[in-house]
Amino acid sequence: MEKSRIGVLISGSGSNLQAIIDACEAKRINGEVVFVGSDRPDVFGLERAEKHKIPKFVVNYAERLKKLEGINAYILRRDHAPKDYDWDDVLRKQGVTLGAILDEGKSVKRAIIEAELLAEMNKFGYDLLVLAGFMRILSPYFIDKVNINQWNYRIMNIHPAILPAFPGTDGYGDTWRYGCKVAGCTVHFVDYGEDTGPIIGQQTFAVQEGETIEDIKTRGLELEWKLYSECIQLFAEDRLRVIERDIGNGRVKKIVWIAPPDKAEA
Ligand code: GRF
Repeated sequence: MEKSRIGVLISGSGSNLQAIIDACEAKRINGEVVFVGSDRPDVFGLERAEKHKIPKFVVNYAERLKKLEGINAYILRRDHAPKDYDWDDVLRKQGVTLGAILDEGKSVKRAIIEAELLAEMNKFGYDLLVLAGFMRILSPYFIDKVNINQWNYRIMNIHPAILPAFPGTDGYGDTWRYGCKVAGCTVHFVDYGEDTGPIIGQQTFAVQEGETIEDIKTRGLELEWKLYSECIQLFAEDRLRVIERDIGNGRVKKIVWIAPPDKAEA
């Protein structure tokens, strides 16, 4: 099987990025990292990319947002939004809430910057986009351009909690604050919600009496490095299938079925 081409987006230290690079080099992942993109300059993850001679780029979100500050939603849509940006479509996919409607300007700005991000990414062919501590929400506008269709997800994320518990930015902190006796991490495909996409893999550990948030983070991160590489390898082996599960009351949920190795071609 051909090597998977993996694009990685980061916002920080990039220890997960490093684990993925190492796993590719050690052939634990049948793949190669073809680009590293960051929403911030001067993050250590970019130095890691450079060290391994992996092409890198920055789409400086903070700087771009500053430039668009004070421009109203109508002008943003008329003069700045990507030609194929469709506010109604984004709203429908995100769920029409009052907050979302009032946030039109924010949504357009996000799409404007995402169009730049896509343009950078598209300079490299890639099979899988891996979010490794990328701290920006990706909108339906972006997601639809990366996923092949609703059954072929191509964006993976790692989350520092046992989803669906504790979505958001501080999974290990929330785990500690709630006094959970078990902590862990989750790798999932990215859908339109915040940390709601189909779960690919999870790892857990028992929280010991007296452990701090920092202790949980340290232990969790070590599990993340291993788990992420394993899940990416499942993708590289073409063993991840998104299927629907009936969850009652006429509702269905998309979940991941992991094909056994011998069924990989199924
Ligand atoms: C990880 O804890 C990950 O779960 C979260 O952000 C952190 C990134 O760490 N999304 P690093 O940049 O990979 O070291």
